[in-house]
Amino acid sequence: MTQNTDYVEACKVSEIDNGKMKHVEINGKEIAIANVDGKFCAFSDRCSHMNARLSRGNIHQGVVTCPFHAAKFDITSGKKVSEPVLEIPPGMEPLPPSWQKYMGVVAQEMSFIKTNDQEIYDIKVEGDTIKVRV
Ligand code: FES
Repeated sequence: MTQNTDYVEACKVSEIDNGKMKHVEINGKEIAIANVDGKFCAFSDRCSHMNARLSRGNIHQGVVTCPFHAAKFDITSGKKVSEPVLEIPPGMEPLPPSWQKYMGVVAQEMSFIKTNDQEIYDIKVEGDTIKVRV
């Protein structure tokens, strides 16, 4: 049985609209809290790839997409569901040759970075208060 003393107040339910996330910091940990149809999830707000804030990305069908290289994670389990990608956005003018060469080097180096699953946290709602166990 989980003890209530482990849970720390993180924010209010009313602070997170449906389909949105909120960044909070508790005991030095950066945590994203997501609202999916009134169900709340908490996970590390530092992408396991290169530390971008996941709460700056978006969630769709229970999956958060990192705003930096689009790695995707299941927000309830923390499992990585797709690897990061390095792509030029569609519609962008072609890069000058020197930049294309640079992007090639970056893509090669990025392929050596391991992206792990995200840490998740137990969460509970008491009235309008969201509590996270850290
Ligand atoms: S920092 Fe998240 S995918 Fe690269």
